[in-house]
Amino acid sequence: MNAVIRAIVVLSVANNFRILGILRGFGGLINRDVYEMNIHTVSEIIEKGGTILYTTRSPEFLTNDGLKKATDSCRDLGIDVVVVLGGEGSILGAKRLYENGVNCICIPCTIDNDVLCSDNSIGFDTAVNTATSMVDKIRDTAQAHDRCSVIEVMGRKCGNIALHTGISVGATAILVPEYKFDFDSDIIEKIGFAQENGKKHFIIIVAEGLKMTQEISSEISLRTGIESRVSILGYVQRGGAPSSADRILASKMGCFAVELIVENNLNNVVSVVGNSMSPVPFSEIRNFKKKFDFSTYEKALSIST
Ligand code: F6P
Repeated sequence: MNAVIRAIVVLSVANNFRILGILRGFGGLINRDVYEMNIHTVSEIIEKGGTILYTTRSPEFLTNDGLKKATDSCRDLGIDVVVVLGGEGSILGAKRLYENGVNCICIPCTIDNDVLCSDNSIGFDTAVNTATSMVDKIRDTAQAHDRCSVIEVMGRKCGNIALHTGISVGATAILVPEYKFDFDSDIIEKIGFAQENGKKHFIIIVAEGLKMTQEISSEISLRTGIESRVSILGYVQRGGAPSSADRILASKMGCFAVELIVENNLNNVVSVVGNSMSPVPFSEIRNFKKKFDFSTYEKALSIST
């Protein structure tokens, strides 16, 4: 997120825009918690995780009164465009602001990578890289003890982090909320097949959205006799220095957002499709949730062992 903030501020300054940083998202807009940004305020942040603007989930903004206060803040502070950085909830919030007369541009920033209109979102690559390196470390113990490691990754109701981490680590099974798995064929038989081929330790990746990581691990021990251990990766996936791929994506998306503002092409979500970027108008977006990539999932299952 810091890389996208940096790009927006630097390019805005170059275009002689006045730019205010809104602290803690929609809550900060309601409370008018803002400060003037310039090149100095965004120097030496590109390599930092988190966000210098902080964040919050604001229940007040979901009320009509909260929406009105946020809209009044924009008018009183002389804000012409709000650039909203976030996932599904933030985009829905931006759409509400837009429907109330405030111009917005959204940039998908979520490790879950579940924003409908964009192939990619800022943070996903870093989260998958972190999860992959954590699993590589956990594997050393699983391998040394001939154990099964059941590893839970983030993603809310979405299995993207699990799918991509599972492929990256060559997992024996990848379990996601979007796919109704069969315990026998998708886990026990996979472990049995791997055992027949000489494998003695097993990595099972589970998306947090399934809410059954511990149960899965206990059942594996019970059914196979293999010692099984759970690791929940948690917030390490949301922190730390961003990957260079994320810094580059964020910088490009930030530039694209400012270009849209310069062209007065407002009220869009910045969307990545393949190698290019395009604006998707709020008016065309009905559903913000992206469909799960079953084609990649099937490939992942076909090579999991
Ligand atoms: O949506 C991003 C995400 O990191 C999810 O993967 C995770 O479930 C959630 O946020 C955690 O959010 P919170 O810290 O508010 O519980």
